[in-house]
Amino acid sequence: MALITWTAEQYATNVAFADDEHKILFDKLNKLYDLATGGAERNEIGRALDGLIDYVVEHFAHEEKEMQAKNYAGYVAHKAEHDALVGICAGLQAKFHAGEGDVTEDTGALVKGWLDSHIPTFDKAYADVLNS
Ligand code: FEO
Repeated sequence: MALITWTAEQYATNVAFADDEHKILFDKLNKLYDLATGGAERNEIGRALDGLIDYVVEHFAHEEKEMQAKNYAGYVAHKAEHDALVGICAGLQAKFHAGEGDVTEDTGALVKGWLDSHIPTFDKAYADVLNS
């Protein structure tokens, strides 16, 4: 079963690029979670982990560029949230590739919990400004 399922009710920001990218991000997270909890080869899990983190960084950069372009008042607090997750991801990634950590059910729950909080609270808040 998928770790996270995009529904408009829970996750729609009504900003087209953000909703599209969130769906891709969820797909990448689900793929990683299925590999990691399904006994896949470590190399394959590592590639999925790197791909997910690369995409998260790309998505955050896109949002930040759009927020800056509109002089969005919530930019600084929003970027701080992004930076915090990127820091957590970088730590997980370094430990995984050093053979000192694994992607586990807890890892999936942590990232899902972050998205469950961040998208409705921070991403939905920029909709009016970014669509203006
Ligand atoms: Fe869609 Fe602020 O992350």
